[in-house]
Amino acid sequence: MSSSRDGIQVVVRLRPLNERESNNTAARRCLEVVDQASLQYTGRDAPANNHFGFDRVYGEQCTQEEAFEGLTETVRSVLQGFNATIMAYGQTGSGKTHTLLGDVCDRQQRGVVPRAVAELGRGIADCQDDCQIKVTLSVIEIYNERIRDLLDPAKENLQVTHDRERGIVVANATAQPVANERDCVELMQRGIAARAVSATAMNAGSSRSHCVVYLIVERAFADGRIECGKLCLVDLAGSERQDKTAAVGLTAAEGSQINKSLSALGNVVNALTDPRGKAHVPFRDSKLTRVLQDSLGGTARTVIILCCSPSLLNDAETLSSLRFGIRAKGIQNSVQANAVKRTPEQLGKALAAAQAEVEALKQRLALPGSGAGSSGDTPSGTGGLQNSIDSSSGPLQPGRALGLARGVHKWVLVGALQLAGLVAYFAAAELLGCA
Ligand SMILES: Nc1ncnc2c1ncn2[C@@H]1O[C@H](COP(=O)(O)OP(=O)(O)OP(=O)(O)O)[C@@H](O)[C@H]1O
Ligand SMILES: [Mg+2]
Repeated sequence: MSSSRDGIQVVVRLRPLNERESNNTAARRCLEVVDQASLQYTGRDAPANNHFGFDRVYGEQCTQEEAFEGLTETVRSVLQGFNATIMAYGQTGSGKTHTLLGDVCDRQQRGVVPRAVAELGRGIADCQDDCQIKVTLSVIEIYNERIRDLLDPAKENLQVTHDRERGIVVANATAQPVANERDCVELMQRGIAARAVSATAMNAGSSRSHCVVYLIVERAFADGRIECGKLCLVDLAGSERQDKTAAVGLTAAEGSQINKSLSALGNVVNALTDPRGKAHVPFRDSKLTRVLQDSLGGTARTVIILCCSPSLLNDAETLSSLRFGIRAKGIQNSVQANAVKRTPEQLGKALAAAQAEVEALKQRLALPGSGAGSSGDTPSGTGGLQNSIDSSSGPLQPGRALGLARGVHKWVLVGALQLAGLVAYFAAAELLGCA
């Protein structure tokens, strides 16, 4: 993929024309794939430059397997302690749920989420490191600005918090340990089945909530270190025009909440790519943008899959999605691995070792003849730093060189003492949970 390592990657997937679109004789197309990384918009209100370039463009013939191929590296990075996000964006009926979930039980038709589970399974099997690996699964939905736990639907107004080891997390969401791919997919299916879905004129199985699947991988090493990576898979509810979806009553109310959170997402993307560079980023304007905070302009590797209809019937929505994607491509994330968690025992050991080092250094500073004790401390002393500066005008004598070395030695010891003190301070702070 061509974008910079830390830039958000944006790929486009066109879905085939559906029956209604191909039966409409007046309907033409609004998108043509030019090559693997660009397409041409041929709909109404086309901008002067109607070519759009992305990290990858998949045409209508693209299989579920091909759509996943470019994502394997992102998924695998979670095993090295990175956070990664894969999010499907697009108007209602454009193929987001098909791309992300597909037919979970069918090997050909399964989407990104079950394939990611399988890929992590392969990564774990290949892992050469001496560590124990634990994978947990959470499934949540954001429905009408409330976060519901789809693995335990009784939990229905969860809050978003920031966790030092895992970044942005949904507090108290069920995190179910999973032992193998089958377990994980079964549990995920159970969660997804509880998601809010309704029929609209645009999509018989329209998602009425944003759904997020979290796969958290923890690697515990023999020395007590724990490394944590989080894969966040987001199937957004689609933006929709009420006249097109023919939504009324509850479905219309859901639609307006969906549009509100998607417009908050657009505002965050605009703020992050503001050329003046200092705009306030309104992450707190919606639950969706808060959940995505470390995926947009944060530390995660992020891939957005823009799902588009190539039909002229949907040209305005398709053009709007392309513009969103171009803007999002400009977001720079500072990809970095999560902080390594240490157990209290390990922190206790680190603290004891640092304290012992402080004591040893203090004793060495006090030792006569070490060049760091009282005899060398005074400016007039033979081993003092001052002495070596004074001697710089004359030719270098062995004794003078030794004086310099002794002076440097003292400051190296003082520096080491300060460093060891700092290490002890941080270990103690972390142990007490205040770092
Ligand atoms: N690439 C594709 N190949 C074949 N069928 C597809 C493809 N993409 C989408 N479809 C079909 O189009 C219909 C709508 O897709 P889907 O439900 O995934 O849309 P969506 O973007 O999730 O919509 P919403 O926002 O309303 O939830 C489904 O019947 C789906 O199977
Ligand atoms: Mg959907």
